[in-house]
Amino acid sequence: MNYRQAINIEDLRRIARDRLPRFVFTYVDGGAEDEITLNWNREAFGRLHFRPRTLVDVSKRDLSTQLLGKPAALPIVVGPTGLNGLSWRDGDMELARAASAARVPFAMSTVSMSFVEDIAREAPGRLWLQAYVFSERHITDALIRRALDAEFEGLMLTSDFPVAGKREGDWRTGLLPRQQFTLATKLDMLMHPRWLATVATRRPRFVNVERELPPGGDVNNFVGHGMFDPSFRWDDLKRFRQLWPHKLVLKGVLRADDAERAVAMGVDGLVLSNHGGRQLDSAISGIDALPEVVRAVGGRASILIDGGVRRGSDIAKAIARGAEGVLLGRAPVYGLAAGGAAGVTRAIEILADEFDRTLALTGCRNVGELTADLIAAPA
Ligand SMILES: Cc1cc2nc3c(=O)[nH]c(=O)nc-3n(C[C@H](O)[C@H](O)[C@H](O)COP(=O)(O)O)c2cc1C
Repeated sequence: MNYRQAINIEDLRRIARDRLPRFVFTYVDGGAEDEITLNWNREAFGRLHFRPRTLVDVSKRDLSTQLLGKPAALPIVVGPTGLNGLSWRDGDMELARAASAARVPFAMSTVSMSFVEDIAREAPGRLWLQAYVFSERHITDALIRRALDAEFEGLMLTSDFPVAGKREGDWRTGLLPRQQFTLATKLDMLMHPRWLATVATRRPRFVNVERELPPGGDVNNFVGHGMFDPSFRWDDLKRFRQLWPHKLVLKGVLRADDAERAVAMGVDGLVLSNHGGRQLDSAISGIDALPEVVRAVGGRASILIDGGVRRGSDIAKAIARGAEGVLLGRAPVYGLAAGGAAGVTRAIEILADEFDRTLALTGCRNVGELTADLIAAPA
């Protein structure tokens, strides 16, 4: 099967699994510890039941919306993911190109393997920089200034990474702690000649920050590292608010009190996220945290959720519960690994088609009609 034949995101995931060496697929697909949260992220959507409206004329439908005050063709953001260059040559650029073509925002990870400036030039559109806060603050500040110069629209600070989650799959393949691959992993790479020929010929590098990193702070030492600052706290958020004059988004909030505090400090948007089940295992899912956060700050900030979005109906459920839209992590990366930018486009098309069908089947003509009464109260 190739990405063109994929009829759902799970198909793209299977193609990605076949194309990628096991250590890369495990990095993309896996979660922390017992993967309880990873699985909950999917189950949480499955527990929500629609109460569809019937006999509504849904012959004309509009999927477009506003995200953080600006138009988007769909209520989705291609979210930040690291090491995309291991899934496809120039993977970050390919993701950005597909997001730009689909007219949805793209959030570029701090650990992107494409330059900020190249992405701004070659994939112009709604670009956000996802920033991790380094122990050496000047590294983060320099990256933010470059995104500002490249006219990025938003800054997304990730707050759920004081230390790396314990992703055991990556330890087993040898990606962690220092890319000392096991014999099995090496043999498995040899079994993927196409990947070796196109992807492995380029050494993975964090091109945007590598010059400033302290000795040892390179890709080899990234996931299990102490590169990011565990002392990142509310006072720092105040400083970033002063540094960044445009839209500021905090990613990794899961509680109403934290949401209140962020909004009071001038944050424009929140992503309710458990990092795709890759950080704190047993953390609540974004979709489950949504009602309390909407009650606390709804209308005062843009609220997005992520984690486990694999169907258009998931997007509809998030919006009906009060989110402005969703962030996608793995879904576009599966598409990327399956077929580069065209595979990402396929992933977005699949989700758009399913979202459109869900609108029609729930008796909605547009995003605004996805209201809270469409979701049944818990039994
Ligand atoms: C392979 C991979 C790499 C990621 N890298 C980053 C990152 O660099 N920065 C960040 O804020 N979140 C990162 N995330 C988390 C995603 O932005 C997002 O929160 C999560 O993937 C959403 O869950 P989903 O994959 O089920 O859609 C990463 C996720 C994955 C799967």
